[in-house]
Amino acid sequence: MEKPLLTGKRVLLIIAGGVAAFKSLDLIRRLREQGAAVRCVLTEGGAAFVTPLSVSALSEDKVYTSLFSLTDEAEMGHIQLSRDADLLLVVPATADIMAKMAAGLATDLATTALLATDKPVMVVPAMNVRMWEHAATQANVATLELRGVLRVGPVEGDMACGEYGFGRMVDVPDIVAAVSAHFKGDSNPLKGRRAMVTSGPTYEAIDPVRYIANRSSGKQGHAIAAALAGLGAQTTLISGPTKLPDLAGVTTVHIESARDMLVACEAALPSDIAICAAAVSDWRMASEAVQKLKKHGGEPPDLTLTENPDILKHLSGPGPRRPQLVVGFAAETENVVANARAKIDRKKCDWILANDVSPDSGVFGGDANTIHFINADQAEAWPKMSKTDVAARLAARIAAHLNGKP
Ligand code: CTP
Repeated sequence: MEKPLLTGKRVLLIIAGGVAAFKSLDLIRRLREQGAAVRCVLTEGGAAFVTPLSVSALSEDKVYTSLFSLTDEAEMGHIQLSRDADLLLVVPATADIMAKMAAGLATDLATTALLATDKPVMVVPAMNVRMWEHAATQANVATLELRGVLRVGPVEGDMACGEYGFGRMVDVPDIVAAVSAHFKGDSNPLKGRRAMVTSGPTYEAIDPVRYIANRSSGKQGHAIAAALAGLGAQTTLISGPTKLPDLAGVTTVHIESARDMLVACEAALPSDIAICAAAVSDWRMASEAVQKLKKHGGEPPDLTLTENPDILKHLSGPGPRRPQLVVGFAAETENVVANARAKIDRKKCDWILANDVSPDSGVFGGDANTIHFINADQAEAWPKMSKTDVAARLAARIAAHLNGKP
């Protein structure tokens, strides 16, 4: 008989205070059925939804609840508790516990264990749709992702509070599948691959103090670099000036102009994957003024422009160094799919993620994106989702494509 998938794996299950906490009871049972040893930490909020007794009965172990219980500390200190596991699993991951994780707070046993651990952490969010969509929660989720915290869900659906939307916890079998995939190494499907991502705006100098730029925040490109690195790709991020911090586990090359970006991209070759998410300035000054342009009370200066190199088109061109997969973005205000298709033909890239950047879309600088995924034979409308979710979905699709899965 085949061994269950999780034989010998130790999971520290942190049950936080949300309505979905009751599902953690079934989860304990299912994880144990697969061979995992499940030890549970129940937060004060969690204990309002499930009793320590039922958690203990199902896990057949002691339930850890309080940070300052001397007997607990004598038997198993909180540091050891957090390191004795192969995976820390937070179910349900409430907005509150993720905010504490993002801020590095250690106010109870659960958050202390999460801060003290050196093991992988997986969160399974569940909350009201407004709480999930709140900028604070989205920022916290992005922070956790950048730190390598794994996440499953949430999904769209009916909520306990009567509302409908994103925030519903994934079902227990999906959590077990994600935990199994993690232990099988499926969480590193891009290991051994090289990826490069362009991000942010470019600055094109007019004179030593002035420049032409655009409103790109770099959020989408940076999130893609983080997602690819999170799946194990050796990732280089070539970024124009943004307010974003450098990403852990990603080599970042800072550039200003389109021409510098092209040079940095060339230097990052060979690469299996190239994603052009930068909002490259289409034009630059035909000749940049060496000295600051002065008013002199006469006519305004003649700002003659010339076209910048098209980096996406350059990387997509045939040759031995062409990346196996080149992905571009199309910023469109109308006829999104048709224009994106035309862009694939023109630039010879493999995939385009087309997004609606009409003034009321809120894409520039915002945290959400509405994407149409387009390749030679399909166009797929993705639901409106956060830029980190777009990045995760794209990275997963790239991994499936390169590993020969449909
Ligand atoms: N791009 C690039 N280098 C340029 C211009 C654009 O690499 N000099 C890339 C962008 O990173 C993006 C894609 O090309 O992946 C599409 O850019 P977009 O501005 O939408 O299209 P354009 O080519 O400028 O065409 P148009 O303005 O006509 O839509």
